Amino acid sequence: MSEFVTIFEMGPRDGLQNEAVFVPTEDKIKLVDMLSDCGFRKIEVTSFVSPKWVPQMADAKEVLEGIYRHPSIFYTALTPNVKGYNAAKKASADEVAIFGSASEGFSKKNINCSVAESIERFKPLVEKAHEDSMPVRGYISCVTDCPYDGATPPEEVARVAGLFMDLGCYEISLGDTIGSGTPETISTMLEAVLSVVPADKLAGHYHDTKGRAVDNIEASLEKDVRVFDAAIGGLGGCPYAPGAKGNVATEAVAELLHRKGFETGLNMDKLKLASDFALSLRSDDA
Ligand code: HMG
Ligand code: MG
Repeated sequence: MSEFVTIFEMGPRDGLQNEAVFVPTEDKIKLVDMLSDCGFRKIEVTSFVSPKWVPQMADAKEVLEGIYRHPSIFYTALTPNVKGYNAAKKASADEVAIFGSASEGFSKKNINCSVAESIERFKPLVEKAHEDSMPVRGYISCVTDCPYDGATPPEEVARVAGLFMDLGCYEISLGDTIGSGTPETISTMLEAVLSVVPADKLAGHYHDTKGRAVDNIEASLEKDVRVFDAAIGGLGGCPYAPGAKGNVATEAVAELLHRKGFETGLNMDKLKLASDFALSLRSDDA
């Protein structure tokens, strides 16, 4: 039997969060429902963040409460603090994610605090989640480059990854937020992180700004990473990372993995339908 690689679908959250024009709640729900039919195990649905910071995610509760729940899929949400966690739990998120950074500049711009302060802020959130038996994923942004601070030292990524493991994250997703990584810088960063976190607790989250995300996934596969985040249609970007384009397209990752003999559980025809619908939601396509 071929080896399984998980594609964690990001489209409804990372894909849509940067859209300038508000995507109607019913369209967000329809997108998640179409994705639920594609064979994913994990779909990141929304973010419980400040609507002043990310207005596109202001309907997090309505979206999470409005979707069809496939019993074998985890429907997940970003939560930056206890307020966000409480709201996500109330809306029946199956899993939450905290999100920090390996660089100070991005941490300040994205979540308005230093890296050290973010860890302190995440502690009570993760404690509450563990009391509720809610799995917590951790994102580390800017793992090779930061739009504000330049190149990120791999040791710094490893240090923050260690802090996230100590907090109790079950998995750490390594974000090439602005898609500046290369197979070389991704491999060097992974070597540093693997000295503190085993490969089966890591995921690659690569934006495709410079068209290198698929190559970066191949480099990560060689380091035994077996979970990759991707957004249907390659939608998206981060509002606090200027120039950041979408995550690598789910379809491209699935094609790569199938070509390499991995199993993903995904149905390419259904992915195409979901991709067409996702791309129709972009304001520049309207
Ligand atoms: P702050 O302004 O320092 O927070 O923002 P605060 O605690 O002072 O609160 C300010 C206001 O926000 C208050 O409202 C709070 O109630 C409200 P006011 O009294 O002014 O009316 N507030 C909230 N409202 C709803 N939900 C909440 C919440 N928390 C506070 N959870 C904060 C700090 C973290 C809240 C803010 O900076 C924020 O929301 N940032 C989110 C930014 C974001 O979502 N970025 C995109 C996601 S990260 C990403 O894309 C990268 C990733 O994909 C990986 C990669 O690619 O690298 C994950
Ligand atoms: Mg991202």
